[in-house]
Parts: sequence; C-alpha cells; structure tokens
Amino acid sequence: MTLAVTPLSPVFGARIDGVDLGHLDDATFDQLYAAWLKHHVLVLRDQTISDPQFEAFSAHLGTLDPPPNQGAGRKSPPGFPNLYVISNKKDPAGEPVGALGDGEASWHTDMSYLQDPPAASMLISRILPAWGGDTYFCSMPAALASLPAALRARIASLSIKHDGTYDSGGNIRKGMQANDDPSTSAGTLHPAIIAHPESGVKSLYLGRRRNAYVAGLPLQDSEALLDGLWSYAALPENTYCHKWRIGDVVLWDNRTTMHRRDAFDPASERTMHRSQIKAKGALNRTLMTS
Ligand code: OGA
Ligand code: MN
Repeated sequence: MTLAVTPLSPVFGARIDGVDLGHLDDATFDQLYAAWLKHHVLVLRDQTISDPQFEAFSAHLGTLDPPPNQGAGRKSPPGFPNLYVISNKKDPAGEPVGALGDGEASWHTDMSYLQDPPAASMLISRILPAWGGDTYFCSMPAALASLPAALRARIASLSIKHDGTYDSGGNIRKGMQANDDPSTSAGTLHPAIIAHPESGVKSLYLGRRRNAYVAGLPLQDSEALLDGLWSYAALPENTYCHKWRIGDVVLWDNRTTMHRRDAFDPASERTMHRSQIKAKGALNRTLMTS
C-alpha cells in the first residue's frame, strides 16, 4: 500500500489518511517514518487507539523519553510512566492532573534544555474545550532559509543556551530556582544552526525565547541578536495551525519545528496525551559555509 500523503502547507507538514496506528504493518510504518522525516509534522485523524496502542506506536519510532520535569501538575496517566498528560483538569483535591494549564504556551521546541532532546513528540487529543487550544507549528529549515546571509554567517559558529527553568506556560519546573537572568539561568548550550542527524537538513535551533542566551556575548548583544533571529522564526508563511478534533494524532520533529498553543476556555477540559521519542543522533553543528 502506498501512503496517502497530503501536504498541510506549501512549506511543511502532511496529513496521512487511511492509516490505523493501532494496526500498522512494517511496510506502512517505514513509509510513515520516511514521511515524518520529509514533512516534519504529520497529522493522522480519527485514531481510536488506546493508551497502550499509542505507547506501542511511539515505541516503534524509537526509545521513549520519560516525561519532562514539568512546572505544575502530575506527570503521567496512571500506569503509563512514559506518557505525559497535557491537561487543565484538576483532581478532587484541586491538583492539576497534567501540565500547561489553560493558558497560552509560547513558541518552543520540547525539552531542548537537555543535552540530548527528544527527536519527536506526539500528541493524541482525548478531550477538547469549547473554544481555543489550537496548536501552531513553524518550520525551522524555512526560518533558517529566511535569514539574511550576514545574520546566518554570524550565528554559524555560535551556541545558544536553552533555558530549563521555566516550561512554555511560564511555570517553574520542579526543583528549579526562579532566575530571570539569561546569562546565569540553568540550561544547556546547543549550536544555533543544527544539522538533522538522520536527514542532514539544516535548521535554526532556538528552543524558546525566555532566558535564551548566546554564549560568550554581553547580555545586551545576546538579547539584540536573539530578537533579530526570533523575528524570522515563525513567519506566517512558514507556520501551520492545527485545529484539533478528538482522535487527532500529531507527530512532530523537535529538530525542524517549534510549536505554540493558544489559550482556551478555562471552563472546559482539554486533555491530551503525549509521548516523546529519543533521538538517534546528536545535534550537530553545521559548517559555516553550508
Ligand atoms: C506539547 C505542547 C501543546 C498543546 O505537548 O509539547 O507544547 O497543544 N502542547 O497542548
Ligand atoms: Mn511542547
């Protein structure tokens, strides 16, 4: 069977039709994997899979990463330590059963404050709110291509610190100290331009804006350079907006995309389950001329 692949935008992303992730043969899996490498974001609708099936498909993509040390809320659905809950629901004691609440989540790529961030993340929508909660993706190879040549050359040998203090909803992660000085906050350095370990595709690698810091620069210069880079990060033509339906599965590449989420109706529940898949190779620095 040849996979039915429909581009989501002229730049990146694809919808895959006619596939049941609960019953996948190896040949179809291989085509899906190739489509993910090529399109960076895959959308599969009407998936009626259970958490064990969602976890099994995730594990087929690679070794699972444990959920992040999130800001607020419980980590995983009971019995599924490798899955992560994104939810505004509260338990009877008033504790959130998942992460990110009901507010906006700003542009980011997942867990880039780690030395080896997950290659992929995947969400399945379980319960959706009355309004809001769209998830946007942007293409980072396109962001790189949109940079003026001088700016691209300037950052080719630079590294950026990816902050690990706050999650994308602005909550302090467990065990971290509040710190809003980008030059001293906790985080991990990654090259500003990375080559994809499997496809070789080059991307601008920004992580998140808050507490980002260009290593070695005076703070003011770092801030100015980052503001300049971020102005190219999510140009509307390089962005895709996902409007969720129940049973949507969205799989994305954390090396070649960033994402953000709109706030949503605080009076209704929105619950998603997520897996995160370890990378098969390191984030390599590209050559200055490439
Ligand atoms: C995530 C995330 C966005 C959303 O799961 O990594 O940022 O739409 N969630 O909930
Ligand atoms: Mn995220």
